[in-house]
Amino acid sequence: MTNATTTHAGARFSRWQIRLHWLTLLLVAIACGAIEAKGLVPKGTPARDLLKLVHFNAGAPVGALMLLRLGLRMRRADPAIVPAPPRWQEGAARIAHRLLYATFLALPVLGVLALAYGGKQWSLLGLPVHDLVAPDKAVGHTLKEIHETWAEAGYFIVGLHAAAALFHHYVRHDSALAGMLPRA
Ligand code: HEM
Ligand code: HEM
Repeated sequence: MTNATTTHAGARFSRWQIRLHWLTLLLVAIACGAIEAKGLVPKGTPARDLLKLVHFNAGAPVGALMLLRLGLRMRRADPAIVPAPPRWQEGAARIAHRLLYATFLALPVLGVLALAYGGKQWSLLGLPVHDLVAPDKAVGHTLKEIHETWAEAGYFIVGLHAAAALFHHYVRHDSALAGMLPRA
């Protein structure tokens, strides 16, 4: 029997889904931390260039991880949450997860293309990346603007997603958060 403060045990995401989920969060946090910190550093300094490079190198693997995660997700159904949330919450979660996939697949692609069209060179894990496309400053600028606006929306979506996880755990006392935590 459970009382009002007991959190229910339920099925879990697979070990790799859990590892990749938290690794993605770590890289997203580094990418966002670096680009926000860039604003605090004077223009033209090496520290500013380094922060941008950290942003590019933490952000680019996020796209690959999201693709991998999409592949893993297609192999098995999501674990059921116990007790089952109301239908509207299940619908909201489905929409949120789709938005998260769309956002974190699109941001790295937009970022890489913004640099490519801007004619900017950078290095990915020490390997030079350049000449992916014929540079076009106007297209590069537009892609950068879309990247930045979508990234701001991304903060909001991740914030809602994290708040929903806490709501499930501390208010509904269901198995949603436990299903995404590594086994103790
Ligand atoms: C998880 C992936 C990523 C996230 C969440 C993300 C997020 C952001 C954010 C929040 C900003 C600043 C927006 C603002 O100041 O208004 C930004 C700027 C930018 N990002 Fe990303 N980004 C990601 C990946 C990438 C990648 C892979 C690249 C390129 C390799 C990239 C290139 C850029 C560029 C060029 C800027 C503009 C920087 C400047 O002001 O000079 N981003 N990104
Ligand atoms: C503090 C931050 C975060 C917390 C507390 C959190 C928590 C959770 C929890 C509890 C679930 C399971 C939901 C369910 O059973 O329906 C989940 C799933 C998911 N999360 Fe997060 N998350 C966080 C950050 C992120 C970030 C940054 C991303 C995107 C890059 C993300 C993307 C996803 C996706 C796509 C799912 C669906 C399951 C999957 O396909 O892997 N989460 N998250």
